[in-house]
Amino acid sequence: MITKQISILVLSFFAILCTLNSCTKKPAVGIDLQLYLMAKDTVGFVWFRHSDSLLHKSEGSTHSQPLIRTRFNAIAASKLDSNGMIIPGSVFPDGSLIVKEMFDKTRTLKTYTTLYKDPSNEIADNKGWLWGAVGVDGTVEITAYRKGSACIDCHLQPDNIDYMLMNKFYP
Ligand code: HEC
Repeated sequence: MITKQISILVLSFFAILCTLNSCTKKPAVGIDLQLYLMAKDTVGFVWFRHSDSLLHKSEGSTHSQPLIRTRFNAIAASKLDSNGMIIPGSVFPDGSLIVKEMFDKTRTLKTYTTLYKDPSNEIADNKGWLWGAVGVDGTVEITAYRKGSACIDCHLQPDNIDYMLMNKFYP
């Protein structure tokens, strides 16, 4: 009898956890899925400052994980200088993809945060960027269909370069 009660308790605990957390996560579809697939493929990317070491996220960031590193696809990398820093005053060309990989404190990759320049896309912002965040498991954390509403206010702070903040916080 007691065992039965305990198992009911345990089951309800997991059911609640499930509703609050991962079971409500939705697999990426549409543009979120495209961004996820593009972000997963690391071929041809250049690391910010040519370094794939993990950085502690800056104080200016509310991004959800403590450790980060950022890479640029070949098109976006055309706006990096010889040190791998963003050239001041740059406007990134169409097709630029910038991926900030986010890691938890055990240094496990959790999330791809992406900025992709595609002005012809109906959910692009006024500079042509699509803003998304998808977990490594392919579930949506912040959908690109929100059109950067959770991101832009912070990314347009002084000294951004075409919305990019890496130079400012990692000079
Ligand atoms: C409260 C401020 C803030 C918000 C909100 C925010 N970011 Fe950021 N973001 C930063 C900072 C600061 C950095 C520099 C790296 C760091 O410290 O994490 C950054 C870096 C990035 C980068 C690396 C490229 C670069 O140079 O900026 C990407 C990509 C990015 N953010 C995407 C997003 C997306 C997508 C969202 C919304 C889902 C978002 N950010 C919301 C502050 C913010």
